[in-house]
Amino acid sequence: MRSSFLIVANRLPVDRTITPDGSASWRRSPGGLVTAIAPVMQRRDGAWLGWHGAPNEELKPFEHDGMSLIPVPLSANEVELYYEGFSNATLWPLYHDVVAAPIYSRVLWDAYRAVNERFARAAADAAAENAVVWVQDYQLQLVPAMLRALRPDLKIGFFLHIPFPPAELFWQLPWRREILEGLLGADLVGFQRPGGASNFIRLCRRQLGLQNQRQEISYSDRTVRAEAFPISVDFSELDTLVREPHIIARAKEIRAELGEPEHVLLGVDRLDYTKGIGQRLKAFGELLADKTVTPGEAVFVQIATPSRERVEEYRNLRDDIELRVGRINGQYGVLGVPPINYFHQSYDRDELAALYCAADVMVVTPLRDGMNLVAKEYVACRHDLRGALVLSEFAGAADELKHAYLVNPWDVEGLKRQMVSAMRATPHELSRRMRSMRRRVATYDVDRWAGDFLAALER
Ligand code: ADP
Ligand code: G6P
Repeated sequence: MRSSFLIVANRLPVDRTITPDGSASWRRSPGGLVTAIAPVMQRRDGAWLGWHGAPNEELKPFEHDGMSLIPVPLSANEVELYYEGFSNATLWPLYHDVVAAPIYSRVLWDAYRAVNERFARAAADAAAENAVVWVQDYQLQLVPAMLRALRPDLKIGFFLHIPFPPAELFWQLPWRREILEGLLGADLVGFQRPGGASNFIRLCRRQLGLQNQRQEISYSDRTVRAEAFPISVDFSELDTLVREPHIIARAKEIRAELGEPEHVLLGVDRLDYTKGIGQRLKAFGELLADKTVTPGEAVFVQIATPSRERVEEYRNLRDDIELRVGRINGQYGVLGVPPINYFHQSYDRDELAALYCAADVMVVTPLRDGMNLVAKEYVACRHDLRGALVLSEFAGAADELKHAYLVNPWDVEGLKRQMVSAMRATPHELSRRMRSMRRRVATYDVDRWAGDFLAALER
């Protein structure tokens, strides 16, 4: 049966891993895209088309957790060239302000185009007459135009979950025209921040000579809208979850397992070089070095989800972070009390929620981030109005969470100062800040995000 509402994303919400003995298992896919889209899909009729995470495997459509999923296969070669290559070694660093050097290779580009074509064909087959198709993220920027060529009857939306870079950076891309034309296949192109939308409009004028009236770009005989829709989390789901006795008990237990320190600091990220994990550990290490905090008094828990492990920059990052953790623990730890508890593992939602409840200070310090849902999840979990959020000015979330302890992660002194302010804040100060941040996240939750986008698309 064909769907009247279709999500098209590189990832499905579940990720299939094949163990060395050949057996397969499913787990939740990593990252913010899945966190945001899954609740949206669970509340709507429709289907989600995407890759299931394992190479060289063709699977039939299946149901999972109230969602209809349509797997799109990728060969091992395509995983290397399209996913690890063009998506994550070219576009990812370029769109995140070149914090790592992007690789420009024609072989990677050819694979990107070919896989985008496969997704467009699969979407054209799965969509009903006049359906709404919502294409997601940087891995699939050519799909809107390819899909429109196949199925002009469809309403096509596109949302970019990561930053859209300034023209001066985007200009480096040898295939900049093709990417812009790919996106212009959509009726509505959504960005996390207004700056992303204006970068895109400016590039359409400069590269393609197009005219625009504010948000609306005239392109052949159509109008394409470019606008910001800041993504969010399922506030009420988290707010309900953390009131459950088993989460409250687990949060207490975590603090006890950590030795009942006065301050628990927490970082939760995919192990990605955009997240500023090294910067925050450096700052914490210096606070130990100058004895602003002592090992038993403050404990840093850093959860680093394995991510894109075959991409060289990610392998190097893991070595850097693990070296740094080892050095700090080796130098400042005392027997049975390592100042940093580091885990290179994935956790389920309950354990993450308990960690958020157990943490006095959530440290979110990306060097560049489209939104950062971890920051909003922390806020959604703190109905007790305790807990401080240290948040990078370079995360999209900083536009909305103005009552966080805002930091420039490149400024180690500033970062140390704000971490200390967060640790030493009075309960009154913490509740004042948290109340205001919760109001924002409760109002602009993920339903509001999807509703606003889809309403704008229908218009
Ligand atoms: P990104 O999309 O770049 O990974 P976000 O902060 O927007 O960054 O989203 C990360 C999502 O992944 C959040 O929903 C967070 O709860 C989840 N997550 C991060 N680390 C883990 C982990 N170790 N185990 C399970 N989920 C995780
Ligand atoms: C970010 C991207 C998503 C991606 C996620 C996890 O959130 O915006 O598109 O799915 O990271 O990365 P992965 O490469 O594992 O899909």
